[in-house]
Amino acid sequence: MALKGTVHYETRGQVAVLTVDNPPVNPLSSGVRQGLFDGVAKALSDDAIKAIVVTGANRAFIAGADISEFGAAGSEGASLHEVLTRMENSTKPIVAALNGTAFGGGLEVALCCDYRVAAPTAPVGLPEVKLGLLPGAGGTQRLPRLVGAQRALDFILSGDPVLAPEARELGIVDEVAEGNVVEAAVAFAKDVVAKGAKLRKIRNETTKIDADRGNVELFAEARKRTASTMRGRFAPEMIIRCVEAAVNAGDFDAGLQVERECFAKCLAHPQRAALIHMFFAERECAKIPDVPKDTATKSIKSAAVVGCGTMGGGIAMCFANVGIPVTILEMDGKALDRGLGVIRKNYDRMVNRGRITPAELDQRMSLLTGTLDYAALGQADVVIEAVYENIDVKVDVFKKLEGVMKPGAVIASNTSGLDVDRMAAATSRPQDVIGLHFFSPANVMRLLEVVRGKETSKETIATAMQLGRTLKKIAVLSGNAPGFIGNRMLAGYTRQAGEVILQGATPYQVDGVLTKFGMAMGPFQMNDLVGLDLGWRARKLSGMKPEDVPITARVADKLCELERFGQKNGGSRAGTPDPEVVELIEQTSAELGIKRRKIDDDEVLKRCLYPLVNEGCRILEDGIALRASDIDIVYLNGYGFPEVTGGPMFWAEQQGLANVLADIEKFHAEYGDAWRPSELLKRLVAEGKGFSSI
Ligand code: NAI
Repeated sequence: MALKGTVHYETRGQVAVLTVDNPPVNPLSSGVRQGLFDGVAKALSDDAIKAIVVTGANRAFIAGADISEFGAAGSEGASLHEVLTRMENSTKPIVAALNGTAFGGGLEVALCCDYRVAAPTAPVGLPEVKLGLLPGAGGTQRLPRLVGAQRALDFILSGDPVLAPEARELGIVDEVAEGNVVEAAVAFAKDVVAKGAKLRKIRNETTKIDADRGNVELFAEARKRTASTMRGRFAPEMIIRCVEAAVNAGDFDAGLQVERECFAKCLAHPQRAALIHMFFAERECAKIPDVPKDTATKSIKSAAVVGCGTMGGGIAMCFANVGIPVTILEMDGKALDRGLGVIRKNYDRMVNRGRITPAELDQRMSLLTGTLDYAALGQADVVIEAVYENIDVKVDVFKKLEGVMKPGAVIASNTSGLDVDRMAAATSRPQDVIGLHFFSPANVMRLLEVVRGKETSKETIATAMQLGRTLKKIAVLSGNAPGFIGNRMLAGYTRQAGEVILQGATPYQVDGVLTKFGMAMGPFQMNDLVGLDLGWRARKLSGMKPEDVPITARVADKLCELERFGQKNGGSRAGTPDPEVVELIEQTSAELGIKRRKIDDDEVLKRCLYPLVNEGCRILEDGIALRASDIDIVYLNGYGFPEVTGGPMFWAEQQGLANVLADIEKFHAEYGDAWRPSELLKRLVAEGKGFSSI
């Protein structure tokens, strides 16, 4: 098989220039590794050559490992280890010319060079932690020798890139060069040669790590920090261990050995597979088969929002945060003042926390204009309706918008699950109508469900997906069906949580099991935070008879009758067991004739999570989501599902779909029709296939 990528070799006087060429971002594929291996050998064997420069063609230096080679058996070409050893053992100085992105293995290649010269715009980073890995090509050993353990830990644990000038400050690069960086690196190399061709092998440097030796605090502090910021993650501890070894193992090769062992552990860990799944899932979800990448999009330079409540205010902030002016319409002056006041308070809080400057606050507030007059919205490129969740109110708003919005403007609804086609039908331009379902708090949550109506144009869909990126969201396309993707799945989850507490579990047990699994919060903590009264009031308003209230809502309604709505009206903090609540649940079980029994944690977990999987399969069957990984994106970014599981669908595959189905069938027999297994799930199990096959 042909090797992938190549390395060009040219000479500039006494300097050999090796240029990595593997479009678009020069990953370390087989041909690149072989090319570097051969290129360095060639330069070393040529007496006329005194120094070597390594750089990248195109926009990147080397963007990292070739992820597509991960898990592939016996990849060809020289191994990265062989390449790096040869570079590090070079008797002629090597200068890395960082023309662009130097990530992961790319930066590790640069750390095996004697010197690093970078273009000011070049980002450098070690993002491995984000994929459940660590820099396994010596990065955890060389970086602490170059910049000290503290900085190395911060850099590797964050995984975030920095630009060359900051990398210079940190001590990762030696020189930031304006203009042509390859020429600057060649000049740098010539200068090194002129001064006696002094080599600088990072592996032999000890000054920085000598200073850190015996500093146990430093590592204890890093462990404490990651325990809270990266809860449940496996790779951070492995990274800390490696950096600890760099400082304390005494010798470079002993440290490398620790790195090799820790890397292997990360590689074998299920979190790694889950995080890489999410990495690809994020790229995949931007692709819509019948809306090609080159579909024309409308330019969004101004926006409007109708309704400045919880969601409308947050959505307006999303626009202001990226510099897009937004006009906000409310029902009356009082509601408008209140809504704008809340936005202001949110920004004030961000200033207090040092997240934005007072000047940024002023600038963002200046992009917001309140109005009570529909005519003021007319020139906006997009309008998002965020009024009460009531179809008649929404249809009425859409009729008004139709009369004022300029031709071609995108007309969107933030509905949580109502029929977008009914809103579209209230206008004469259904092709411009789409659902843009933000999550609360809209200015914080990353997820955006883009809901495609039956007449929504491809241009409108492409524009909405593009808008998602502009607003720094992750946009997932959903079909127009009740609850879309996320809320439709949530229904089964909450229902099961409600059932298990009537059958013998307690809310504290259920929340405990789910938070231990890694959910941001349990279903009862969530209800407690949102307020139990929302559903209760809606049921009262609709005139629902007590006997028609779903049994899973009865306990919450009883608490509301006692005016206990949850945290917002001064209830105790979620998670504090309350005997009165337990008694109320037991009493409700008795009234309903449900015999309570001990339900173990494993059953609680399966009862709550399997409905997500089963409903997720139905959503795929119905064509509401394009692919299983889109469902994972929705659940991770909108519903607090733990990232390290890869989302409910990926997690189910890890459990074995046959095992999941067997349990669902058992629950179906015991608890009835809510557990009817999805046809898709049955078919996949029968055929021994996974979600990627559909
Ligand atoms: P909210 O009650 O906080 O805000 C609604 C606002 O709309 C109020 O300020 C009200 O004065 C205004 N309003 C009502 N009728 C209006 C009209 N005809 N013209 C102009 N303004 C009007 O409600 P919230 O929570 O912001 O929800 C808004 C929409 O967002 C709903 O469709 C809801 O389903 C959806 N949503 C809510 C989420 C949440 O967590 N609260 C999450 C995602 C979507």
